[in-house]
Amino acid sequence: MRIAVGSDHAGYRLKQLLADHLSGLGHQVDDLGTHSEATVDYPEFGAAVGRAVTAGEAELGVCACGTGIGISIAANKIDGVRAAVVHDATTARLARAHNHANVVCMGGRIVGDEVAIDAMDTFLTTEPVGGRHQKRIDEIAELEAR
Ligand code: RB5
Repeated sequence: MRIAVGSDHAGYRLKQLLADHLSGLGHQVDDLGTHSEATVDYPEFGAAVGRAVTAGEAELGVCACGTGIGISIAANKIDGVRAAVVHDATTARLARAHNHANVVCMGGRIVGDEVAIDAMDTFLTTEPVGGRHQKRIDEIAELEAR
C-alpha cells in the first residue's frame, strides 16, 4: 500500500518509527517531512499528507505532532480527508471502521512506541464498515460542498 507520512518536530521521532515499521511491512512510504527535530509548524505537513491522499498519490496517510491534534486539524482542512487522532488500537479500529478515516494521527508526546505500532497495525487491517456509517460519511462530504 502507498502511505504518506508527515509530522512536525514533536512528532518526528514517532513518524520515523511508524515509517520504518510500515516499510518493514512492505508498504511504499512517502515521507513528506519534517526531516529533523528542528522546530517547524505542523499545518503544512498535515496539509501535505491530506493532499497526497486526496490526490490518489497515497491510499492512507499517517501524521504525528506532539498530541496528534494540531496536525489532524490541518489535514482535515483538505476536502476529502478524514483525519482521526487515535491513542490506541481501539480508537484506531473505530476511526477506520466507523469514521472511514483515511489519515491516522498520533501524538509523539502522548502514546508510547508499542501502543503506537499496535494502533498503526490495527488501522491498516481494519476495513471501513458501510451501512449506517456510510450515510454519515456522505453527510460529512456534503458539509464540504457548502
Ligand atoms: C508543538 O510544540 C506542538 O504544539 C504540536 O506538535 C502539536 O502538539 C499541536 O497540536
